[in-house]
Amino acid sequence: MSLSGDSRTDRKRVIVGVSGGIAAYKACAVVRQLAGAGHQVRVIPTESALRFVGAATFEALSGEPVQTGVFDNVAQVPHVALGQGADLAVVAPATADLLARAAHGRADDLLTATLLTARCPVLFAPAMHTEMWQHPATVENVDTLRRRGVVVLEPASGRLTGADSGAGRLPEAEEITTFAQLLLERHDAMPYDLAGVKLLITAGGTREPIDPVRFIGNRSSGKQGYALARVAAQRGAEVTLIAGHTAGLIDPAGVEVVRISSAQQLADAVSKHAPDSDVLVMAAAVADFRPAHVATAKIKKGATEDTAPSTIDLVRTGDVLAAAVQARAAGQLPSMRAIVGFAAETGDAEGDVLFHARTKLQRKGCDLLVVNAVGEGKAFEVDHNDGWLLASDGTESALQHASKTLMASRIVDAIVAFLHGDGGSAT
Ligand SMILES: Cc1cc2nc3c(=O)[nH]c(=O)nc-3n(C[C@H](O)[C@H](O)[C@H](O)COP(=O)(O)O)c2cc1C
Repeated sequence: MSLSGDSRTDRKRVIVGVSGGIAAYKACAVVRQLAGAGHQVRVIPTESALRFVGAATFEALSGEPVQTGVFDNVAQVPHVALGQGADLAVVAPATADLLARAAHGRADDLLTATLLTARCPVLFAPAMHTEMWQHPATVENVDTLRRRGVVVLEPASGRLTGADSGAGRLPEAEEITTFAQLLLERHDAMPYDLAGVKLLITAGGTREPIDPVRFIGNRSSGKQGYALARVAAQRGAEVTLIAGHTAGLIDPAGVEVVRISSAQQLADAVSKHAPDSDVLVMAAAVADFRPAHVATAKIKKGATEDTAPSTIDLVRTGDVLAAAVQARAAGQLPSMRAIVGFAAETGDAEGDVLFHARTKLQRKGCDLLVVNAVGEGKAFEVDHNDGWLLASDGTESALQHASKTLMASRIVDAIVAFLHGDGGSAT
């Protein structure tokens, strides 16, 4: 995952608020990544945060002065000026205390005062013990902030301070800066509009074994599917991600990840989870063919050309997307409200990419089809992409060239529009 926009024209003024949690040290990576992407970063720690990480570290990483109180540099009125001038405010980590103060409109230090004057998108990345995160007071404070359009990230699950583990871990710095960049690119707050919706997303490539050593695979990195899972989860959805082979991606915070390897394992996992899902998004690159026989021992190279194995017999794998559409038509997926397919296409003598995509949409019978043109440096492995979004009602819209996270955000916009009966064109 990398941050886009290293050019000076993309340089934005970003506030990074740091409150006093054990994860304050991870804010250093957030500051470094945002500054590394070319942004002007101003760190505002709370007094408590400075007990975990010193001001000198934040000053050195950001190249900007650091202050915590409203009574320093009063002539510059920083408690108003910093918020007014910001393009984005990120608070990482956000403690239970900071969330409470922000939800109640307190302005008792420079960070909370800045959050009151900021009119830009605001992103909180909470981190605390599970008990604090699940306490009704914190739950209400988070609801209040989300109702106001603030993005409050779901924390990750895992090791907390000491030996405990559970929900409340600060998401990885890359996840936080990915959303920071998304909010800068979207130019509006990210809605929390998928609460109560269950999404089943497949991502990555499958591998079809030839023998214990070799397999037939594909070039899918999983980046687009992971970005979809990440964005949907942070918009409130309950996401299960069926993950094939990826380019070593970080698991999205707040997402249940089910690992699979082969096309058959993917099909089994989809069959298992689809009956309990409202939306199926098939972003994985599933093998169309697999070896008819898998050798139990490694196939030997052979001493000469004559003794080398000359062919591998292939058989077709099942069509998971078409099977899901059929299962829904047969009434086996009663809660399924949207099925989204992906097509990686190339043009040929028969027609261009869109021609093949329209044919695929009709053949598969899904509700929405995301289409990418593939070729040298396009679609696979890269961080940016473009394409089209075709809906079963005939609506077609272009997905402009953007980061895969922004693409994911537009695709999720289209899914939400489809769920609301608005066809499903990308915004
Ligand atoms: C070692 C240590 C670790 C802490 N970790 C957290 C934490 O992860 N999350 C949290 O909400 N509070 C944590 N606290 C409690 C906060 O520091 C405390 O609520 C403080 O008042 C927060 O102030 P602030 O929100 O102004 O930064 C921790 C305290 C200590 C001493």
